[in-house]
Amino acid sequence: MVWFTGSVDGGVELTAYLVNESRARCPELSRDRLAGQWIPAREREQVRALWDEYAGSVYPHDDLVCSLRGRYILDLLEQVLRQDPDTVLLVCGAGFTSYPWLLPFPAAVEADLPRVIEAKRRRVAELVAAGVIEPRPVEQLPVDLADRAARERLVERVRAVAAGRPIAYLAEGLIFYLPGADARAVAGLGAATAAGTVSVVTYWPVAAADNRVLAAQREWFRHWAVAPEATYLTTDDLAAAAGGPVDNHSPEDLQRRYLGEVSVPETELVPEHVAVVGR
Ligand SMILES: C[S@@+](CC[C@H](N)C(=O)[O-])C[C@H]1O[C@@H](n2cnc3c(N)ncnc32)[C@H](O)[C@@H]1O
Repeated sequence: MVWFTGSVDGGVELTAYLVNESRARCPELSRDRLAGQWIPAREREQVRALWDEYAGSVYPHDDLVCSLRGRYILDLLEQVLRQDPDTVLLVCGAGFTSYPWLLPFPAAVEADLPRVIEAKRRRVAELVAAGVIEPRPVEQLPVDLADRAARERLVERVRAVAAGRPIAYLAEGLIFYLPGADARAVAGLGAATAAGTVSVVTYWPVAAADNRVLAAQREWFRHWAVAPEATYLTTDDLAAAAGGPVDNHSPEDLQRRYLGEVSVPETELVPEHVAVVGR
């Protein structure tokens, strides 16, 4: 096993490193200029090796899928913030994403499992000290989002941080790892926090449950101690959870939007769709 950050050597937290590398490999498409900064140089080689192994065993296009979804989310959040610069950001399963440093949110809360939060807090401090990022009002909170009481505490904290300001809610690359009822609750966490919240939730559709890339990924996950079980949802599930009609974006839609054509069909990709509710 490879050791990242001295503590993450497997488990679902490993996926945060993998998808960060995916964005770092496509900076023009992802427009995440900080993606390459979140993993310290001493660990980046290990992460690259992990990514190459994943690309060889599962599929070689995770850079495309993650950069497209991240780019769409960045563009959307930019619009939300332009419409109301007071908007506060809540990110669940934040991993090594950069949104609060790419866009001038007045406040943000990032929630993830303790090992990821510990690594992110440490790296934020290092990057601020090195002058790579500016100090920003971002709280990183260790939260098990599969724990209902922990979710309720998170909601309370976010309401206090927002103090009546509008909220934008993001759950990217997360809910399929949670059991069904928790996945639905996390999809609806933004709506549960405040009425009028814009929610952006990525998910795997029920219709794509037999996707061959996901089958290969299940095998790879077993090797890295990531639970292979997954929750698949429909747009009706998401509409019910997040409290409004869904504006849905498939990986093929996002390729058309940003690349002008579909270069890889969804059957050859992790079939991750982006659902937007409340816009
Ligand atoms: C595929 S990564 C996505 C990270 C980030 N959103 C991104 O797009 O780069 C999945 C993230 O969900 C987090 N996660 C998985 N299960 C979780 C749980 N029960 N509670 C909190 N975070 C969880 C993982 O630790 C990881 O950071």
